[in-house]
Amino acid sequence: MSRILGIKTVRSFAYAEPDTSLFPIDTFWRLVATLEGDATEIMQYGSPQGDIHLRVELASLLRERGVEAGPGDFIVTTGVTQGLSLVTQALTSPGDTIIVEEPTHPALLRVFEAHRVRPIAVRRDETGPDLDQLERIIVQYRPRFFCTIPAFHTPTGYSLAQPQRLMDVVQKHNLLVVEDDIYGLLSYDTVPAPALKAIDETDLVIYLGGFSKTIMPGLRIGFVQAPQPLLKHLLGLKQAIDLGTPTLMQRALAQFIWGGHFKAHLRRCLPLYTERRDHLLKALPQFMPRGTHWTRPGGGFSCWLTLPDELDSLTVQRAALRQGFAFTPSDIFLTDDHALRICFASHDKHTIYESIAALGEIMHTQLQ
Ligand SMILES: Cc1ncc(COP(=O)(O)O)c(C=O)c1O
Repeated sequence: MSRILGIKTVRSFAYAEPDTSLFPIDTFWRLVATLEGDATEIMQYGSPQGDIHLRVELASLLRERGVEAGPGDFIVTTGVTQGLSLVTQALTSPGDTIIVEEPTHPALLRVFEAHRVRPIAVRRDETGPDLDQLERIIVQYRPRFFCTIPAFHTPTGYSLAQPQRLMDVVQKHNLLVVEDDIYGLLSYDTVPAPALKAIDETDLVIYLGGFSKTIMPGLRIGFVQAPQPLLKHLLGLKQAIDLGTPTLMQRALAQFIWGGHFKAHLRRCLPLYTERRDHLLKALPQFMPRGTHWTRPGGGFSCWLTLPDELDSLTVQRAALRQGFAFTPSDIFLTDDHALRICFASHDKHTIYESIAALGEIMHTQLQ
């Protein structure tokens, strides 16, 4: 892309990626090397459900999200994406309806498109989904499930304010919920609130977790936790699709968590990401024209910038790209908002200020 536009480097705020300079490469490679003694076992066909060493660690990690589960309650997947795909395949037929949030993340929408299910959007604000609208959609469309990102939702960075109220609605209508908790541990202001699954007394919540944001997306490791009959179905599908996620990375990840490296890694990353979020929130009021609004993300990687009515997000995004700054325009998030997503995790203070100043100038120019 940058070659086509004749730009040497693009400062990209477009993707919700962790900072590569924080990747725990040395520790990870060292752990992989220590596994050489187990190589024959690791390189044999593994458990389709996932390496037991990792599933034990997942159970203890989930306890920190308020969820009680044993190692038998998970399937390790190739990222959250595969977990969502398995769940969608198990629960829907082409033409079925499911509910998503507006705005929502295109990675989720791509999965639904591949399975030919129809997403109906429920509006989400800083407190959570509009529950009246949610009930109307449930009654009208009889959806198969509601897919939500309760904690540090992308693109807004908001979290559910009253999770029990959402659970009351889904319990009333016996609607399954697919909880994507990929950002759950990336909390900047407070101890992370428990997962939605933690208050699920009727086994309606299917939990998806992963390590693409907290460690490195190249691990391609996620997991599903679901009630047993559904888990069995998902396991059959996982087996049919790939016979299991590669054991080497799973075992190294298990060692990484077991040895305390995951917690140490989060302790290192969270203050930096918090600082970057704060720099962004300081820069925005300095440079944005009147009529611009933005969210205050309590965690995760995304801030949602709603443009003044007169501006069009694609036009602003293209002008920014020509100057070497990438932001994501709102149209891919299944919304009519005129907005841009700003992913702030990968940039230092200087780049954040420079980029927001440039974006502000572009918007001021377009408003003239
Ligand atoms: C909300 C959300 N869910 C899922 C994914 C994809 O996760 P994974 O890399 O674990 O497949 C992303 C990636 O951006 C995401 O933002």
